[in-house]
Amino acid sequence: MSQKLLFSLIALTLICTLSAQITTPTIKEEADVPSYQLPQLLISDKGIEIDSPAEWERFRRPEILSYFANHVYGVVPDQLDFYKVEVLDDELAALEGKALRKQVNLMFKKEKKSVKMSLLIYLPKGKTKSPVFLAYNFNGNYRVNADPDILINGKKEFELSDEKLKKFNKNKRGRNTSRWPIEKMIDSGYGLVTIDYNNVDPDKNDFSDGIHALFYKPGQTTPAQNEWGSISAWAWGMSKIMDFMETEELIDHKKVILMGHSRLGKTALWAGANDQRFGIVISNNSGCGGAALSRRRFGEKLSDINTNYPHWFAKNFHYFNENESALKVDQHMLIALMAPRPVYVASASNDAWADPRGEFLATKAASPLYRLYGKKAIENEQLPPVNTPFHGSIGYHLRNGKHDVTDYDWDQYIKFANKHFGLN
Ligand code: GCU
Repeated sequence: MSQKLLFSLIALTLICTLSAQITTPTIKEEADVPSYQLPQLLISDKGIEIDSPAEWERFRRPEILSYFANHVYGVVPDQLDFYKVEVLDDELAALEGKALRKQVNLMFKKEKKSVKMSLLIYLPKGKTKSPVFLAYNFNGNYRVNADPDILINGKKEFELSDEKLKKFNKNKRGRNTSRWPIEKMIDSGYGLVTIDYNNVDPDKNDFSDGIHALFYKPGQTTPAQNEWGSISAWAWGMSKIMDFMETEELIDHKKVILMGHSRLGKTALWAGANDQRFGIVISNNSGCGGAALSRRRFGEKLSDINTNYPHWFAKNFHYFNENESALKVDQHMLIALMAPRPVYVASASNDAWADPRGEFLATKAASPLYRLYGKKAIENEQLPPVNTPFHGSIGYHLRNGKHDVTDYDWDQYIKFANKHFGLN
């Protein structure tokens, strides 16, 4: 190779590496939001105008879904069902006698690799079938309630290795109780099914562990460009839990409300788009890559999320860093993929990183499709004031406060579910 050619190759590599790292400053003021045009929800790639639910379902929905799968979250490369359910606990008088508690492991395996998903289930006592909230938790079932019988990753305390015991002692039982008003759910007639999202795929930039590894072809060590990142893997996990719930007599699997906060809100939306068995989908403060419009670039933008969490999305998605207008979709279309099922987007006033206005505008831009189905969709032109929820088939509220899940949020979710499931 000539010296000149070598020099230009080095220069090119340098330019590419540097330009990949250049990210524009964070937009914090509405006035700095660039002007943008959203891709058309109701005009197909071939230019067909969608003016009925049947046309949406036949032409437009599949192309939008496939685009999100291949260019945003990543395709699940194969199928795999759980091969065994281990029942670890079946308590008839939990939470001071109000609830049934069940803890089970869903077991997956392929060749020499395996994954275990440890579920914690509370159901109201004395009901033949209960609607349930299904939601991932961060870092352990034992954090959602101080109930001393909640297992730690499917194990009792004395069965833990020293390292796991240390981690458990640091995190403590019930540490996240404020985000999980289980008694309120039970008193309102709902159950809760929850699991630590790390069971499905540990949340780190490492594709050698978790569910991905069970799907590799010989020699493969990381997902292909259009294959699943972690969000897609977590979404897949929700569908597997749905498979299990369909076999549980006491769970009304036609009334499952999928709920997720933050990265798990992104996950809930993507899971709800893929699997129409979920009756209601709730995104709590999901922000970038969730309910917020990417083209606004307000707060967290694609280059931030793909740099800080390179494993969350398909590798193809990184192409859109600082290049959002090249996307053929935006996040209003993800919300639209729930239609005609009820969907709820919740923002918080002090959560600029997740772009509350961008989340609201996405619900608004998804609304024409809900109207096509004859459903009540967002009517407000502008972001509503704090704590004034709207509950059509699309629900929205801007809660006063920080990035979090609070009682206020849950009160809205329970009311919304009651309304749409015709309960209470
Ligand atoms: C970070 C990340 C967000 C994400 C959030 C969370 O703030 O930038 O995209 O939603 O973590 O999951 O808590």
